[in-house]
Amino acid sequence: YEQAALAAIAGASSTDELEAARVEFLGKKKGRLKDLQSVLGKVAPEDRPAVGKQFNEVKQRVSGQLEARKVELAKPAAEVEGLDVTLPGNRLSRGSLHPLTQTIEEFKEIMTRLGFSVVEGPELEDEQHNFVALNIPPEHPARDPLDNFYLATAEAAAGGQTLLRSQTSTVQIRTMEHTPPPVRIVSIGRVYRPDEHDDTHLSMFHQMEGLMVGESVTMAQLKTVLSKFADAYLGGDVAVRFRPSFFPFTEPSVEVDMYWDGQWIEIGGAGVVDPNVMRAVGYDPEAVTGFAFGLGVERFAMRRYNVSDIRQFVKNDLRFLGQF
Ligand code: PHE
Repeated sequence: YEQAALAAIAGASSTDELEAARVEFLGKKKGRLKDLQSVLGKVAPEDRPAVGKQFNEVKQRVSGQLEARKVELAKPAAEVEGLDVTLPGNRLSRGSLHPLTQTIEEFKEIMTRLGFSVVEGPELEDEQHNFVALNIPPEHPARDPLDNFYLATAEAAAGGQTLLRSQTSTVQIRTMEHTPPPVRIVSIGRVYRPDEHDDTHLSMFHQMEGLMVGESVTMAQLKTVLSKFADAYLGGDVAVRFRPSFFPFTEPSVEVDMYWDGQWIEIGGAGVVDPNVMRAVGYDPEAVTGFAFGLGVERFAMRRYNVSDIRQFVKNDLRFLGQF
């Protein structure tokens, strides 16, 4: 009995197994100790004290081993195996949002505070939304196949072409098509142009488009919104400068520069929505006016985080990404 009991206790590798051994060998109701006890009753009276003493010793030894094994099993596994659990563990790397994702989230947050709602548009576009409604005629150089990613599709053969949008201004059109004025929206997303890659150019980048249309929306309000946005994102007092420019969908049109940290940076284009665009979406240019702007998201992120090569954003180098 004793040998079998001690073997079962030593062999128990979990508290459950140990409990099973306890029930089998020391159980009060019908364990093997109980059987032993009934044998004890049949021993001749003169032998009883000696046998009884032996019985108690065996019982104590088995119980003692059981307690010892219980304590041992309760220890953490590492300690049982001789490892030092007080050593510092391996740090888990916790991942983080891509710097551009963080930038976009912050843009949305700032523009929402300024009263703009955030809308989305498709990256795969038709010529109507990427060009026609934006007052860009068929012969305009912006439609050149060398400057756009046109898709080779069946529709292309039939005349209506599909392309990866070259600007987020498409979303101005999509919004106005199904929303009566007033509107105040921004849309942030990817745009595509077949540019040679270098430290400031990629064939895919992000723009934030803004559009505000109402009864008397002016160029002065455009400048105010851009100033407020720049102050909020770059921090402090950022000067905003307009330089005369041309876009088919705005008149007048401007290039937007911002002065920050001792340097002017070109951050995009803007202007007053052209009456032809208003008409294309069924708005009355006599009743409402508006402004629109398109800003380069990477431009801002590069300035703010001091990134000198735009390609870093798409390299997936953890040494770069881990810094944000
Ligand atoms: N879509 C223009 C570009 O990509 C920027 C722009 C947007 C200009 C809205 C005027 C108004 O360069």
